Amino acid sequence: MGNIIETKGLNAGYGPIHVLYDLDFEAPDEAVTVIVGPNGVGKTTLLKAIMGLVTIYSGKIYFQGKDITKMPPHERTRIGIGYMPQVGNIFSRLTVWENLKMAAYIVKDQSKIEEKLEMIFTLFPKLKGFLHRKAGTLSGGERQMLAESMVLIRDPRVMLVDEPTAGLMPKLVTEVMKKFKEMAELTGLPVILVEQRARRALQVGDYAYMMRHGRFIFKGTAKELLNHPHLTEMYLGAIEVRELRYVRE
Ligand SMILES: Nc1ncnc2c1ncn2[C@@H]1O[C@H](COP(=O)(O)OP(=O)(O)O)[C@@H](O)[C@H]1O
Ligand SMILES: [Mg+2]
Repeated sequence: MGNIIETKGLNAGYGPIHVLYDLDFEAPDEAVTVIVGPNGVGKTTLLKAIMGLVTIYSGKIYFQGKDITKMPPHERTRIGIGYMPQVGNIFSRLTVWENLKMAAYIVKDQSKIEEKLEMIFTLFPKLKGFLHRKAGTLSGGERQMLAESMVLIRDPRVMLVDEPTAGLMPKLVTEVMKKFKEMAELTGLPVILVEQRARRALQVGDYAYMMRHGRFIFKGTAKELLNHPHLTEMYLGAIEVRELRYVRE
């Protein structure tokens, strides 16, 4: 089994503001890889780096083993890196159907779009009844379904998802997480899931990373992290984590 996405010694940030330090990251094929950590540690910046949206100082980014460190963002989308940002992922003034059409504009093959729509409606039967509603009138959970569908309709090879449960009611959180697992199983798509809600995310993940201050402080299976006796302390930064770094190596 290979890695769909990999970074080696990645240092990145926003212009002069250094955010990510020496990240060696691997997202295996056919797996859900979860990145957890408190607010402001660099989770979103890592996804943006994979999409080519931040400044890379050193290190490499690979997609299916190919070096994409210098590839422009739109090209990364075209080769199949699907990205669902935390905010600004739908057009509120357009209908659900118009949103889907916008997202699909890069797909040349009409039959592919129809095939993807069928899969999307299997995953989210509710969306089918909302096609002509303005996206802005949808509930938080429904918008999230639309944003996810907008990535899926482009037939990606991997899906990067940034905090899909942010701002959702607690009872929806479990549902949304389960849907990601279901989607990964239905499509066989590898998923890189960024979440602040560590326990909930780890329950649906296969592999896990924990981040603090732009570095990984844990790398292992989701189960190992979930069952780690110091999960909470590590998360809160209440214990010295250096000794726990890369427990599998
Ligand atoms: N556009 C930006 N310009 C400058 N600094 C930023 C920008 N976006 C985020 N940062 C900084 O980068 C750090 C990591 O942010 P982020 O990746 O958004 O964290 P997380 O997703 O883990 O909450 C924070 O210190 C944040 O202030
Ligand atoms: Mg974030």
